[in-house]
Amino acid sequence: MDTRLQVAIIGCGWAGIRHAQGFARCGAEVTWAVDVSHAQAAALSAAFNGTARITNDFRHALADPALDAVDICLPHDLHGNVAVAAADAGKHILCEKPIAATLPEADAMIAAADQAGVVLMIAENERFLPLSHKIRDLVREGVIGKPALLQMTRECYLTRSFVEERPWFLDAKAAAGGMMTAGGVHDFETARMVLGDDVASIYSLAAPQRFLELEGDDTSAALVRFRGGAIGTFVLSFVMKSLVTAAGPEIHTIRIDGELGSIAARDGRTIRVFSERDDWRVGDRLIHHEIYVPEQDTFSLEIEHFIQCVRTGAEPLTSGRSQRRPLEIVLAAYRSMETGQPVMLA
Ligand SMILES: NC(=O)c1ccc[n+]([C@@H]2O[C@H](COP(=O)([O-])OP(=O)(O)OC[C@H]3O[C@@H](n4cnc5c(N)ncnc54)[C@H](O)[C@@H]3O)[C@@H](O)[C@H]2O)c1
Repeated sequence: MDTRLQVAIIGCGWAGIRHAQGFARCGAEVTWAVDVSHAQAAALSAAFNGTARITNDFRHALADPALDAVDICLPHDLHGNVAVAAADAGKHILCEKPIAATLPEADAMIAAADQAGVVLMIAENERFLPLSHKIRDLVREGVIGKPALLQMTRECYLTRSFVEERPWFLDAKAAAGGMMTAGGVHDFETARMVLGDDVASIYSLAAPQRFLELEGDDTSAALVRFRGGAIGTFVLSFVMKSLVTAAGPEIHTIRIDGELGSIAARDGRTIRVFSERDDWRVGDRLIHHEIYVPEQDTFSLEIEHFIQCVRTGAEPLTSGRSQRRPLEIVLAAYRSMETGQPVMLA
């Protein structure tokens, strides 16, 4: 392989642009901009010196022998077919979350990548968030003892401009659901990482729709039992309106309670820890500790990891195989919403 990795961005919308920036920062070369919208592909190419070739058909890029990898930033129901075609063409694959719209599609992607001997990594950027890694380390070190309860909330305000730019997102088939898919794959993956545990069962409800144009759920909650016995609540909404979310930013909160204390974070940078452990006391006083974790661009971190895996052949942290699980949990949540029953996961 040439020293500069050559990449095709397939889907030149919001995520495609961020990924292209990440590849540029990591010294890779975006040589193809692929989008059904010529304007989107042209804009992405222009943003990076205009050197990327433009096409509306990803097969043109796959036919380029110099191309090393594709980066799939498409609507969810298109991930599977494009990834399988890329693997068959011998190209490494970075694919946005969720891995696919269905488990058979995810399985086909994993099998095709295995067969071709190419890297299949899911761009689950939140798995690279330094704050979550620190929380995982604190839990692992036993700072709060055995976790009993995890609570995660994802507060978003879906603006009209967001969906005007992404009409596919209103279509439950193209988006493979609604908020539970868009946010749930992130949160279930983070929960699995910080607890070092996996979901055993899930019960989920969708709230009455407030964003009527959206076919999928706009506000959902899930109650989860982890294999180790802890329970978790997940609240995800596109219509949690506040001064902060109305201005654009999402608010992601996490709190874990264990037998010896609690860990909580709300702003993506600061972790508040309370622990009854002797080494967390000041003198004989129990206090709240604030741990500051500098933020980093998770898109660049994940892309750096992808490039390293391509170069070394190492299994990505967010391999296709590992990221099949958050999709499986999300699909179980939807089954629970439909049946009104909890769903057991193997
Ligand atoms: N990790 C994150 O934080 C994050 C944030 C936003 C989006 N995403 C993910 O990125 C992916 C894309 O989402 P987005 O927000 O960038 O959407 P988007 O609508 O901004 O971009 C998708 C692009 O795909 C193009 N497209 C649609 N069908 C196509 C086809 N058949 N061939 C070629 N191009 C086609 C559209 O024209 C559009 O430009 C999704 O998987 C989404 O979940 C991840």
